[in-house]
Amino acid sequence: MREILYGFYGTMIYLPLSGLSRKWRRFSMRINNKEGGFLQQINLPGISWKQCTNKKIIEIREHDEVNGNIRISELGVINAIAADCEDGTNIFEIGTFDGRTSLNIAFSSPSNCSIYTLDLPAKTDTQFSLAPGEEHMVEKEKSGARLEKYRESDSSIVSKIHNLFGDSASFDYSPYYKSCSLIFVDGSHAYEYALSDTYAAMKMVKKGGVIIWHDYGIWEGVTRALEEIEEKEKIGLKNIRGTSLVYWKKE
Ligand SMILES: C[S@@+](CC[C@H](N)C(=O)[O-])C[C@H]1O[C@@H](n2cnc3c(N)ncnc32)[C@H](O)[C@@H]1O
Repeated sequence: MREILYGFYGTMIYLPLSGLSRKWRRFSMRINNKEGGFLQQINLPGISWKQCTNKKIIEIREHDEVNGNIRISELGVINAIAADCEDGTNIFEIGTFDGRTSLNIAFSSPSNCSIYTLDLPAKTDTQFSLAPGEEHMVEKEKSGARLEKYRESDSSIVSKIHNLFGDSASFDYSPYYKSCSLIFVDGSHAYEYALSDTYAAMKMVKKGGVIIWHDYGIWEGVTRALEEIEEKEKIGLKNIRGTSLVYWKKE
């Protein structure tokens, strides 16, 4: 019951309010001719989250957010989209952090889905430079720490999650090509990573599957990469209104 209440709060209350607040902040930045920091003007067309899912009743676990997690509204939308995934397919997340989203996806998706979540081990050399300000998300004690609490009580859910380690720019994604019904791109926010993670996701998504990116309009590298891809490829990327999520479905 608590999970459903948090789902309602995240998508029906928090989402519209935080959307309005960002709209207002972007408007005031524009009239004051200010740019930069953790908010950019955005140019991708918007889509309502309700157009991205058939799910009406959404559950959220681990509602408390720490610096590095996505917003409760975004977690609700991703859980709804995960519930629509085809049973037995793969789901891939780039950027595990404390495992809050992979855990939620595991609870929300059909029971025979497998969730693969890739994280950069601390103190690893990377192919590209990471974005300034994201080191704390990499240099953590344990990747996916939030899963531990559920390992015994919900073992069938936690066993759907497979932790993978490596640099997303050099990782071998070939075992997952064309197999994923959902991919969540939330690794490094540097421009080069946003580009290379996107191209990896495009190879993994199956027909009818969905790719979701986080931090559009928040981290400059992500915003620039996604707008450039759309400008060049015209594939129909859309910003889920009221969130920093970008949505794309492979037809
Ligand atoms: C914003 S956090 C992810 C948050 C998580 N998806 C959630 O919803 O709670 C970014 C994660 O990406 C990882 N990361 C950063 N650079 C990476 C890279 N080059 N390859 C793989 N993972 C990376 C970080 O270690 C961190 O765990």
